[in-house]
Amino acid sequence: MSAAARCSSLHAGVRLPSAFPGRAVDPQHHGQQQLLPAQRPQPRHRRAAPLVAAAEAASLEEQQQQQQQPGSSENGGQPSTSGRGAAPALKVRGAKVVVQDMVKHFETRRGLFKAVNGASVDMEPGTITALLGPSGSGKTTLLRLIAGLEEPTAGRVFFDGEDITGRSVPDRDLGFVFQGYALFKHMTVADNITFGPRMRKMGLDLEAKVEELLQLTELEGLGGRYPPQLSGGQKQRVAVARALACNPRLLLLDEPFGALDPVVRKSLRHGLRDIVRRVGVTTIIVTHDQEEAWDIADHVVIFNKGAIEQHGTPEEVAKEPMSPFVMNFVGDVSHVPASCQLVRKMGFHTDKPFVMVRPSDIRLRTNFEECQSCAPATVHDKANLGKSVRYYLRFDDDVDVDLTVSRKVDEEVYDLGVGQRVFVQVPPAKMMGFDYSDIDATSAGI
Ligand SMILES: Nc1ncnc2c1ncn2[C@@H]1O[C@H](COP(=O)(O)OP(=O)(O)OP(=O)(O)O)[C@@H](O)[C@H]1O
Ligand SMILES: [Mg+2]
Repeated sequence: MSAAARCSSLHAGVRLPSAFPGRAVDPQHHGQQQLLPAQRPQPRHRRAAPLVAAAEAASLEEQQQQQQQPGSSENGGQPSTSGRGAAPALKVRGAKVVVQDMVKHFETRRGLFKAVNGASVDMEPGTITALLGPSGSGKTTLLRLIAGLEEPTAGRVFFDGEDITGRSVPDRDLGFVFQGYALFKHMTVADNITFGPRMRKMGLDLEAKVEELLQLTELEGLGGRYPPQLSGGQKQRVAVARALACNPRLLLLDEPFGALDPVVRKSLRHGLRDIVRRVGVTTIIVTHDQEEAWDIADHVVIFNKGAIEQHGTPEEVAKEPMSPFVMNFVGDVSHVPASCQLVRKMGFHTDKPFVMVRPSDIRLRTNFEECQSCAPATVHDKANLGKSVRYYLRFDDDVDVDLTVSRKVDEEVYDLGVGQRVFVQVPPAKMMGFDYSDIDATSAGI
C-alpha cells in the first residue's frame, strides 16, 4: 500500500475541536520537589522523505522556491494545488511502537562511537512518551533511528507488530518536529502545512485540511502569513500542524519548545498534549525539561550513555528510581557521606561511599522527645524563595543538607529560625548508596 493510500485509509471522518485553550494543570505532574517524593535488516531503499528530510535540510528555502510561488493574501495563502479529495479528518489510529535492542555506532576518526547501545522500549498506541537524559546521551539518535533517518548498527523497530526497520522514511507514516521548526520561510503557513500531502500527492482536500489544522493549532486566519511574520509560539504550532498534515501514526518531537520562553513553553505544551490526545497519534518527545516531561507524558524514558536506565510512568520513575543515576537525575537530592551521623542514625547500610537523600523525604521535629532516633541538626540558614522556604541544616558532624518546603507548610508546620535545633528523620528505604561513577553522565564514547 502506498504511503498516500495508507494515510487516506486512516481517515475517520472526525472533526476535532480547537485545542490550545489548554486545561487545568495536573499538580501531580509537576516537577515540584514536594510532589516528586516531590532478523536481518531488509534492504533499504532510501528516497527523499518529503517532510522529514526536507525539514531537516539546511537550505530549505531553495526547495520551496522550486516547489511553488508564495501566496499573497493574508487570509488566502491556501495552496494553489489544492484539489477536492477525501474528506479531511485528523483522527488517526496511533501505532504501537516497539524498539528492540537498538544499537547505533558512528565511525569517527578515533574509532567507533557508541551513541545508542542496546535500547529497548515499547510505546502503546496514542500515548505520549518523553525521552529524558543528559546532553549527548543519545536521545536524538534514537529518535532518528525510529524515524529511519539513521540506519541502525543492530536492532529492530516494529509498528503494530510489523518490522519496519528496513522501510524508507516516507513509508513509516510519521511526522517530525525539530527544535528549530525548519519552516519554509518563503512559503505561507498554509503552504508549509500542506507541503507533505502535496509532495505525496495524497489527493486530500488541501483547503479543508489547512482550515482544520489551523483550527486545531489555534492559528485561524494566519494561513496567508509567512514564518518571519509569526511569533516563536506560532511557528512552533505551524511545525506541529505541518507534522500532522499527512495523518502520521507516530509523531516525533525533538526539543520542540527549546527556543521559547518558559511561560510560552508551558501554555504550548498543554496545547500540544491536547492536540496529540485528540488526534490519537502515538507521540515521542525529546526534552531536557523534566517538568515538561512530567507534565505531558504518559511514560518517561531516562537515557544515559546510549542506554535506557529506567522507563515507566512519571510517578513510578519519580517515586521508585531504580538506579543512583535516575535518583540523581530526577528531582532534587542531597549527597552525604555514608559514614555520616544522619545515615548511621537512620540505620541505613550500604557498601557505597556516599548516600543520596531527597529533601522531600526529610521530616523535621523540634522536640527531641518526639523522635529519639532522629539525627540532631541546627538550622544554619534560611532562604525566602517566594512561594517556598529553603532551610540549610547542619548536622553535628558538619554535614549539610537542605530542605525546601512550601510557604504554606512552613507557616503551618515548621516556621523555624536560624540557630534553632531540629531533629531529622529520613526513611532508610528512601536512601540510596552511590559512588560518583554511578551518576557520571559523561558519554560512553568509544
Ligand atoms: N553522525 C555522528 N557521528 C558521530 N557521532 C555522532 C553523530 N551523531 C551523534 N553523534 C554523537 O552521539 C552522541 C549522542 O548524540 P545525540 O544527538 O543523540 O545526543 P542527545 O542526547 O540528543 O544530546 P542533546 O541533549 O545535547 O541534544 C553524542 O556524543 C554525539 O556527538
Ligand atoms: Mg538531541
